[in-house]
Amino acid sequence: MRSSSSKSKPLSGTVRAPGDKSISHRSMILGAMAEGTTQITGLLEGADILSTASVMQALGAVITKTGEGAYTVEGCGAAGLQTPDVDLDCGNAGTGVRLIMGACAGYNLRATFTGDASLSSRPMNRILDPLRDMGVTATAQEGGRLPVTLESDGSLTPLSYTPPIASAQVKSAVLLAAVNTNGITTVTEPIPTRDHTENMLRAFGVKVEVTKRNGADLIKLEGPVALESTRINVPGDPSSAAFPIVAALITPGSDIIVENVMMNPTRTGLFDCLTEMGGHVQADNFRKSGGEVIADIHVRYSKLSGITVPPERAASMIDEYPILAVAASVANGTTIMDDIGELRVKESDRITATADLLRQNGVQVEELENGLKVTGGIVSGGGLVKTYHDHRIAMSALILGCVADGPISIDDASMIATSFPTFFELMRGLGAEIREDEIS
Ligand code: S3P
Repeated sequence: MRSSSSKSKPLSGTVRAPGDKSISHRSMILGAMAEGTTQITGLLEGADILSTASVMQALGAVITKTGEGAYTVEGCGAAGLQTPDVDLDCGNAGTGVRLIMGACAGYNLRATFTGDASLSSRPMNRILDPLRDMGVTATAQEGGRLPVTLESDGSLTPLSYTPPIASAQVKSAVLLAAVNTNGITTVTEPIPTRDHTENMLRAFGVKVEVTKRNGADLIKLEGPVALESTRINVPGDPSSAAFPIVAALITPGSDIIVENVMMNPTRTGLFDCLTEMGGHVQADNFRKSGGEVIADIHVRYSKLSGITVPPERAASMIDEYPILAVAASVANGTTIMDDIGELRVKESDRITATADLLRQNGVQVEELENGLKVTGGIVSGGGLVKTYHDHRIAMSALILGCVADGPISIDDASMIATSFPTFFELMRGLGAEIREDEIS
């Protein structure tokens, strides 16, 4: 399905951010590992989460939809996750496949993991290396790609691990394996990454200790430990809220509110950048929901200035660089985003994909070895953007089209449903000229 967008009138209105993708994945995975029935509300019903849910069912959990965004997960508990009868198709979901491999590692089972073309091109050794160190047998395709077959007898050795890259997925995979490992496993994080696994494990009754050592976080979990079912109300996703927020900031005359946005500091780096650029991004009405602080974000059109993004902020906005580059395209001056090599192994090579998207639409952009340099001013539009099956590239291109001189089209909008199935409806409700207009 192709899609396009064009210069929009001021955006206005109040919208609610969809459920957080990271927390939705973890709700399904931890719920499936737990004893008893976990009740989830506010779940993101995106394709990625539905893939994770069906994989957890294949591993033995019973998952039932009870309403919009409402699910129950009857966990495997003491019986444990089971060898599935089928290959586990994780679709497009990097978080899904990596966390589920970690969870499976601690049980006596054998499972083969597959995914779509994008997921099959992404590196899995970052997960398989520590899991092998703990005692898992894993076979993968060249370069550690899917399909991966993982085999464990469920008796792992505890590990002290410092991931070579800042990655919540790697940390989480090791911690999920540690749940069923006899002894103390530690993960050392010199740069903090999103801490949802730690927080949610605690909600399931697991003791996770975090201390500081030489400036790094030392995360400690002693297994084996039984997860107890719980209730989870999934807060709104700041990474999805980023799209209407940036759209309103850059579309002249706009004034919107995005409600229900999770404000966990490991996720809000983009908001810091936009504020530093001179954007009116005001968080109000702070409250707690599902164990996280949430707020409503009031955004007004603002004249932006370029900034240099501090590299140490990357982990707290790792998925937000493409949409930040869109904001930078209309900012006064140059925005430098460097030391973000990890973007090359996301759903697409997001450094190249973002540079292409901007260049095709007349924006001045330089691709660096590990980053991007964007100089704002001209956005002529008129391009047909290649999305490389990447939802965030697709949405970023459509938001840029709202301020471009000519319309911007994308080759495929179907992947948007992986993380933000209500994107079109929500953006159009605010007044954005975004269409799903051609069948390809
Ligand atoms: C995620 C972690 C991030 C992020 C992904 C979701 C998670 O990946 O890009 O969209 O839920 O743990 P890395 O931790 O590998 O950077």
